[in-house]
Amino acid sequence: MGIIIKTEEQIELIRESCRRLAIVHKELEEFIKPGISTRDIDIKGDKLIRQLEGIPNFLHYQGYPASICVSVNDEVVHGIPNKRRILQEGDIVSLDAGMIYKGYHSDAARTHAVGQVSKEARQLMDATKESFFAGIKMAKAGNHLFDISNAIAAYIKPYGYGIVRDLVGHGVGTCLHEDPQIPNFAQLRRGPKLRPGMTLAIEPMINMGRSDVEWLDDDWTVVTEDGSLSAHYENTILITEGEPEILTLY
Ligand code: MF3
Ligand code: CO
Repeated sequence: MGIIIKTEEQIELIRESCRRLAIVHKELEEFIKPGISTRDIDIKGDKLIRQLEGIPNFLHYQGYPASICVSVNDEVVHGIPNKRRILQEGDIVSLDAGMIYKGYHSDAARTHAVGQVSKEARQLMDATKESFFAGIKMAKAGNHLFDISNAIAAYIKPYGYGIVRDLVGHGVGTCLHEDPQIPNFAQLRRGPKLRPGMTLAIEPMINMGRSDVEWLDDDWTVVTEDGSLSAHYENTILITEGEPEILTLY
């Protein structure tokens, strides 16, 4: 398929899709509290996306049954919202959301604390977010894709956390998942050269324990094999001639 270089017109629409998605995430962050169900989050997120004239791109994607992925504690990604799954004080919850606006896709994820969380959980969440920012320092035209991967991995290394290897970031914009795949662990090769007009979803998924994951019987929910906590942080970014633009920040 190859990596799509977006035109100025396409970039403008992807920017707008991302700007609106950032609003959805901001509102969802404020909605998180002990006592709500993961299904409540999905209902709220679906409503916000549609109010902003978007279409939830996850809904029915390869059969996924909801608009938001809600992954609690040892769930890494793709948790299916459930009205009986109630958030408790001390949980960490990862929200992954995306939308299509005027035909263009955005994708972003955040991990939030439910009330007060342990020092260890807070450190995991912070390091996961910071690893994204370490990665995109390398997201410059002329660098290579795996410079991003290697920077994420190098940032995480001193923590001893497990970097998820079975799921990766991706190109995004005209589709939800485009080329290239973007690993979050160290690579031997350099990967393709970064060029202005590439729009990429960079999304480290970091486990407090080992990197191994498994799929639950619902065929969607990815959990850590060792039961340790996991965090996820994702933005859609644009490669430019200079610094990358982070399109899904509020
Ligand atoms: N943001 C997710 C990703 O890029 C997409 C969720 S998959 C879905 O991996 F099926 F839930 F949509
Ligand atoms: Co993604």
